[in-house]
Amino acid sequence: MKRSHTVWAAVLGAGLAFGVTCAAVSAGNPVEERQATMKAVGQSMKEAAAINTPATFDAAKAKTLMDGVAANAKKLHGLYPAGSGADPKTEADPKVWENKADFDKRLTEMATLATTAGKSADAAGFKTAYAAVGATCKSCHDVYRMKKKS
Ligand code: HEC
Repeated sequence: MKRSHTVWAAVLGAGLAFGVTCAAVSAGNPVEERQATMKAVGQSMKEAAAINTPATFDAAKAKTLMDGVAANAKKLHGLYPAGSGADPKTEADPKVWENKADFDKRLTEMATLATTAGKSADAAGFKTAYAAVGATCKSCHDVYRMKKKS
């Protein structure tokens, strides 16, 4: 009994330490973190596409998925620290850092639109709101995401 308590304390301690590391953001590798976060956003959008029909619309699921996209958009703000454009693995265009205010504005817009989409009451509303979120992905990628180098 005593032993299992010690194990749990260690697990909780590790969890807390991890939280602190995340708050400091760039302690990890910001390029890997933002790519993984973008991937998660892509996955949510894909899952949301499946409920984007009158027959399959699910308001609760739309809210969960779109709130997740919004949370990730907010998280992405901290994952483009100065200097991280030099990493050979990044597909982020140097323009991100030249126009950081515009880039951040687009992330804020993505979060706002995703939150709105999550509040859709019916399939028709979701269709429009989901398309608006998708448009923010494309318009930002067109300007700030480079084609893969290799
Ligand atoms: C404010 C600009 C911006 C917005 C908005 C944006 N992205 Fe991105 N996205 C980027 C940039 C920049 C990269 C390249 C990141 C890197 O490689 O460092 C990227 C990369 C990606 C990747 C590739 C991740 C990988 O595997 O390397 C996916 C998938 C992706 N975005 C999906 C989305 C989706 C889906 C949306 C909309 C819901 C979206 N993005 C919105 C800027 C944006």
